[in-house]
This record gives sequence, C-alpha cells and structure tokens, in this order.
Amino acid sequence: MKKKSNNLNLILIFCIVFCSFSFANNLNTSFIDSTDSLKKYYISLFNIGAAINKDIILGLDMESKHIVESQFNSITPENSLKWMFIQPSPNSFNFKAADKYVNIGLINNMHIVGHVLVWHSQLPDFMQKIESKSEMNNHFESHINTVVSRYKGKIDAWDVVNEAFNDDGSLRESIFYNLLGNNYIEKAFKLAHDADPKAYLIYNDYNLYKTKKRGGVIRMVKGMKSKGIKIDGVGVQAHWSLNHPSLDEIEQIILDISKLGVDVLFTELDISVLPNPWELVGAEVNQNFSKFEGDPKMNPYKEKLPKSIQNKLAKRYKDIFKLFIKHSDKISRVTFWGVMDKHSWLNDWPIKGRINYPLLFDRKYQAKKAHKALIELGSINND
Ligand code: G3I
Repeated sequence: MKKKSNNLNLILIFCIVFCSFSFANNLNTSFIDSTDSLKKYYISLFNIGAAINKDIILGLDMESKHIVESQFNSITPENSLKWMFIQPSPNSFNFKAADKYVNIGLINNMHIVGHVLVWHSQLPDFMQKIESKSEMNNHFESHINTVVSRYKGKIDAWDVVNEAFNDDGSLRESIFYNLLGNNYIEKAFKLAHDADPKAYLIYNDYNLYKTKKRGGVIRMVKGMKSKGIKIDGVGVQAHWSLNHPSLDEIEQIILDISKLGVDVLFTELDISVLPNPWELVGAEVNQNFSKFEGDPKMNPYKEKLPKSIQNKLAKRYKDIFKLFIKHSDKISRVTFWGVMDKHSWLNDWPIKGRINYPLLFDRKYQAKKAHKALIELGSINND
C-alpha cells in the first residue's frame, strides 16, 4: 500500500515538473526577457505602471503578466475593483479577483493602486435604482469602509473619486451628487482616510487640459485642503491621441495642479492612432458612434500599423515623456492603461470593433518602437 502511494507521488512529481517545463516553453517570454525594462530607467523619476485586466490577474494571459512583472513597478486593476464586480448585490462582496490582484502586487513588491471607490459608471443595478438619501448614504459608507479596510496596508493608493466634473467645471449630476449633495467627494475622501490613514488618496479625471474643467478640480482641491481633508494627488487620465492635446496644454496641467501642493499622476495613459473626426476627447464611456461600425475609413489599419504611424506614435510618446522627465519632481506615477494593443479598451471606443495601437506592446507581445524610444530616453536621463 505504502509502495503504491510512493509510486503515485513519483508520477505526480514527474507530471508537475513536465507540465511546468512545457508550459514555460510554450510561453513566448524569451524576447520579453531580452527587452530592456522601463522600470529600470524610470524608477528614480516616478513610479511606472500598467492597468491589468482580469485575464492577467487570473493567470489566463501569462505573456502579459510576464511583461507587467518585468517592465513595471506599479499596477492598477482595469476593472476588477469596480463597484459592480466587488459588490454586485447589496452587502454581498466578491473579492476573488481583487485578492488575486493585490497578491500579484505584493509578491512583486509593486506600488498597488485601488481603482476605483466612487464612480458613476460600472455600478451594479441595485445602486442605480437607489432613490433615498439614507439608503445611498449607508451603501456609500459601507462600500468605502469595507473595501479600503480589507486592503489596509496592502493597497498603497486609491482613486477615491473618478470623473466627478463636467467639462465646464461644474459637478456632474451623478447618482451620488443627486442623492448626497455636492460634498459627497469630501465625504468619500474622509471615509477612505479613516479606513486606512496611511493610504495615498487621489482624485482622478479626464480632459484636464480643458481650462474650465481643470478650474473645477482646482477649486475642489483648494476647498478640501482648506478644511484639512487629506488629498495627495490629482490623477490625469491621459487618454490622448497623436496630436492632441498639445505639449503646452499638458505642461499647463502639471504646473497648475502641482501649485496646489498635491502630486500630479498620469493614471491612464494611452495614445489612439485612429481617426477622430468628431474631435472627441477624454473617456466619456457613454459616447457611442455605432453608425460608424464597419466603416473602413474609420478603421484604416486593420491589417497592420504603417511604419510612418508607428514612428509618429514613438515620437509622440517620447515628446510626452520628455515633459514628464522635465517635471518629474511634481509627478509621482505614470501608468499605461493596458499592456498590449489587442486588449486595449480603445479597440471598442468610441466605435466598436476597430483595430487600435495605443500601447507599448503589439498584438504579439513584442515591444514596439515607442517602447524603444522610451528606453532610450530613460537611459540618457539615468546617466
Ligand atoms: O463583465 C462583463 C462580462 O460579463 C461580459 O460578458 C462582457 C461582454 O462585453 O462585458 C464585460 O464587461 C465589460 C467590462 O469592461 C469588463 O471587462 C464591459 O462590456 C466594458 O464596457 C468594460 O469596459 C471598461 C470601461 O472602463 C467601462 O467603463 C474598460 O475595460 C476599462 O478599460 C474602462 O476603464 C475606464 C476607467 O475605469 C476610468 N477612466 C476611463 C477608462 C476608459 O473608459
């Protein structure tokens, strides 16, 4: 009997060794390993991160996971910590993916970001149906307290409130604003701070190159600081394109925000290379241009990205990073919104089913020219 179990153990060990060996061989990581690492050059300037999706978190996309671990020292969950996934029904929490996410960061000694506590989008159905102030208040308090407390001392920084302003600088009439009033932002920051006093707290938004919108955010930060409410940074989402916004506009964001005595973070950087005939900017997810779906003029690089555009993308990233390096004393983190082109949200926004190329790694997990440009720039600045 004993002998049989010994034999079984041997077979089991052989299977594990064999499977791990063939799995490692199937993983096409050698080129990634030979690719120079971004974090090596930028770590002394600011944290350099990537948003990771559920497949990476669950280990279903090991190539991307390998890129993340070798290139970046910070992670943000693209979706897995959002309200609809964490608390899909009242007081019933699902931390499965979120726990795995946090573990990846802990194992790799990364700066771990929590995205996002309060956002009008990706809310579960029950939240969208709430009509009374007291019910909303209870859920608001319990959600922030439960989630932040669970990861106290593990998640380093929280996007506490996301996209609370309209482009004209007024507050967006979200369900939170409508039921809790305009001080819901302060309340969220206080709750997050109470739950984890050491956590780094961020307000996060897009289109901050627009003066009126930035003005609204600046007024809010000043107000919070004057009341002694902790806010550590403003996250600039940075869903940009090849020509827009201008470098001057980006620099002005850095200057205006840092004057407030908070850090500037570029939290969701990606550069769309596709046509944008409506001068659509930012990340308003409700904008949908379905009538253009399938229109070849809107999807010009279906087969591959022409060399000329690849070069433009590399130059655009390089120019932006030159600016980031110039102001690295004011910037605490730069995070790419995704790892490789195929999985970018920009393949489906604002038109579904386009082929976009906004990130540093291509559809075969190869480092693109833009990556090389950033490595070159980083190495000069590290001499
Ligand atoms: O979870 C469902 C799944 O059950 C379903 O089968 C599948 C079918 O489409 O959809 C899944 O939900 C998707 C979700 O991502 C999770 O993968 C939604 O359709 C999809 O719309 C959603 O998109 C996310 C978007 O936020 C939602 O607003 C993007 O991946 C994510 O990159 C994007 O991230 C936001 C930031 O959080 C805030 N700033 C703007 C940024 C870009 O929109």
